[in-house]
Parts: sequence; structure tokens; C-alpha cells
Amino acid sequence: MSEPIRVVAVCGTRPDAIKMAPVVRALREDPAFTVRLIATGQHREMLDQVLRLFELTPDVDLNIMTPRQTLTEITLRTLEGLDRALQESPADVVLAQGDTTTTFVAALAAFYHKIPFGHVEAGLRTYDKYQPFPEEMNRRLTAPIAEFHFAPTETARENLRREGIPDARIWVTGNTGIDAVQWVAEQSLQSDDPALQRALAHSGRVLLLTTHRRENWGKPMGAIARAVHDLLERFDDLLLLAPMHRNPIVRQSLLPILGDHPRAALTEPLDYAPFVHAMRRADVILTDSGGVQEEAPAFGKPILVLRETTERPEGVAAGAAKLVGTDRTRIVQEATRLLTNPDAYAQMARAVNPYGDGRAAQRIRTILRQELRP
Ligand code: UD1
Ligand code: UDP
Repeated sequence: MSEPIRVVAVCGTRPDAIKMAPVVRALREDPAFTVRLIATGQHREMLDQVLRLFELTPDVDLNIMTPRQTLTEITLRTLEGLDRALQESPADVVLAQGDTTTTFVAALAAFYHKIPFGHVEAGLRTYDKYQPFPEEMNRRLTAPIAEFHFAPTETARENLRREGIPDARIWVTGNTGIDAVQWVAEQSLQSDDPALQRALAHSGRVLLLTTHRRENWGKPMGAIARAVHDLLERFDDLLLLAPMHRNPIVRQSLLPILGDHPRAALTEPLDYAPFVHAMRRADVILTDSGGVQEEAPAFGKPILVLRETTERPEGVAAGAAKLVGTDRTRIVQEATRLLTNPDAYAQMARAVNPYGDGRAAQRIRTILRQELRP
């Protein structure tokens, strides 16, 4: 029997861990692979809770997070740490997902060590350099380095083709985030978070809000908070559930406007399984998240995307998501339409899942086996 394929899987943020967990677990089930999991620790608490849920313990933890870290700090500390880790234990392939700075730097570190890089969730694009910032450039800069492009959808494959990535290096696998959300949706709810309990017990309607994008920091996030406040005033059965990102900048925008409202349940980031319960309980979801745009349609939840552009057009095309930007009036209008017009609501609430079938990680495993030990 040939030597196992040595994989280094890298994750740093909450979505990295969610989308890499199915891949790491699938590879570890197969004796053809040995997998070292490197956590950069770009996130701390939000990363750890996902790793705990999926019962993953990093082999190396670079623990780079500092409060209010800059992009340059993340890049430098991650590159140094990954360089050391790859020096100490060589690999046949390095894998990371999506568009975080952890991911781009993992690709760069692999390149410096001349190790093939596999990009999970390859090919998402807005073609606007600054939206989302810095994610659009993170994923675009990762593409020319990668040897394996695991595209979640046909749209993503087409984007890569247009950029000159050879057809033979692109595989449409579905998004591993769908593997993760299907797995987690089967887990029982274990959370004593009072805000979540309140939302689950609420007899009226629930609006779920998450926001964290850098381009929404400051004024746009203030406008989002004001729009949500307007909605709470307009609909007296409406409860807001807002698990707030750990970034203090996010809290600075949300708390002064929404913190005192009697029907605003603001809380810490929810663990992944409880968050999925919150999505299923919600009537309408307002978000600028990437992952939530993929998950919410699967549960038939109308989603208003608090961004000007999206690299996930499939949900919009399917009618499950709508881009509403960050203008206060527009957000209020669009949410009001959903909350007052049952036909408009029903049109968006048809469950669709253009992002995967829950078997992306298995496909990635098969491809790596075929390509690396033909
Ligand atoms: C990062 C990713 C973004 C992804 C998001 C998912 C980059 C540049 N950005 O953005 O693509 O959508 O994660 O959530 O890769 N913090 C904590 N504890 C945590 C996590 C964050 O305290 O567990 C605080 C720290 O003060 C940290 C700050 O949040 O400095 C910002 O974290 P950072 O990873 O730089 O940016 P995100 O906005 O989280
Ligand atoms: N999520 C979570 N708890 C929360 C909010 C979100 O577990 O309180 C999950 C969500 O289900 C999705 C992922 O985190 O899978 C999205 O992460 P985030 O919005 O931070 O990043 P993005 O996807 O925008 O990069």
C-alpha cells in the first residue's frame, strides 16, 4: 500500500471552521490520508466553539488574534506561523476555504513551500475589488496559486474559466457549508442563551439580524440598526434576535440604537447549532454574512442581504434572497413588504438550495485521492 497523502487543513475564522470541518472529518475517515489541522486563531472564541462542536482539536494553533487587529497584522502573523508549521511538517497538499485572510495567506505559504494548494469554495466573485473588502481580493489572489479549485456551483466554475483557470483543475463539488449545516441541523439544541430562548418562545414574528462586513462598519451599520429599530416600532409583534459578532466595532453601532428596545434581544454570537435553530425560527433574516446567504434558503427563510453586491447570485436568482444594501428607507420598505404581504413572503419562502447537496466533502476526498495517488 502506498504512503498516506499528507494533508494540512488550515482554518482561522468561524466560517473557515464550519466549511473545513466536513472536509477534515471526511479525510480522517479514510486511511489513504493523514490530516494535520492548523488553526491560525484569526478568531478565538468564535473559532473554538465551532471546533468543539465538530470535535476537532487543532494539531497546531498559531493563536494570532489580537483585539481590533488590522489586516496587515493578521497577514504577517499568519504567514510567519504557517511558514514555521510547514517547515516542521511537510505536506502533499494544503487546503483552506473561501476568502478570509487566513485562506489567502495559507495559499501563499503553501506556494512558498512549493506545496499544491486546494481551494475549497473557489470561484466566488463580485468583480468589485472593494466589495466585500478584503474578501474579493483574498479569493481572487488565491486562484492563480491553487492547483485544485473546488467550486461550489456552476457559476463559480464559469468565473474561474473566464479567468483562465484550466478546466481540468476545476471540480464542481457543492459547498461544504451545506454538508455542515445538514449535519448540525440534526443536532439537538443545547443552549441556555436567554436571547435565543426568548426568540424561540416568542408568540409573534422574529427578525434575525447578523452584520459584520468591514464595508458596513460605521455609518452603514448605524443605518441598518436604525432601520431595524423602525421595524420594531412599526410591528408590535416583532422581536429582534441579533447575535452580535465579537468585533467591538459591530457592537458600537448596534448597542446604542437597539440596546434598550424592549423587543430587541441582542446577544453574544450563538454557537453554530443554536444559530441554525434561530434561523429556522426566524420569519425574516437580515444579514451581510456570506454563509448565512447559503444556509437560509435551504430552510425556506426569506433573506434580505445588507450589501450592494453579492458573490452568491444563485440565491437571488432562485428568488430566496434579495439585495437591499444599507439604506435605512430601503431596508424598512423591503422588510415591511415581507411582513405585510403574504404573497411576497410566500414567493421568497420557497425552500431552495442552489449551493450543494451535503456531499461536497466526500467529492473533495475522492478527487484528492484520484489526483494525488492515481
Ligand atoms: C473575518 C474575515 C471575514 C469573515 C469573518 C467571519 C478577514 C479579513 N475577515 O472578519 O472574511 O466574513 O471573519 O466572521 O479574514 N473578535 C474576537 N473574538 C473572536 C472573533 C473576533 O474578539 O472570536 C474580535 C477581535 O477584536 C478581532 C476583531 O473581532 O480583532 C475582528 O476579527 P477579524 O478576523 O479581523 O475580522 P472579522 O470582521 O471577524
Ligand atoms: N453563525 C453562527 N453563529 C452566529 C452567527 C452565524 O454560528 O451567531 C454561523 C452561520 O450559520 C454561518 C457562519 O456562522 O455558517 C457565517 O459566519 P459569518 O457570518 O461570521 O462569516 P461569513 O460567512 O460572512 O464569512
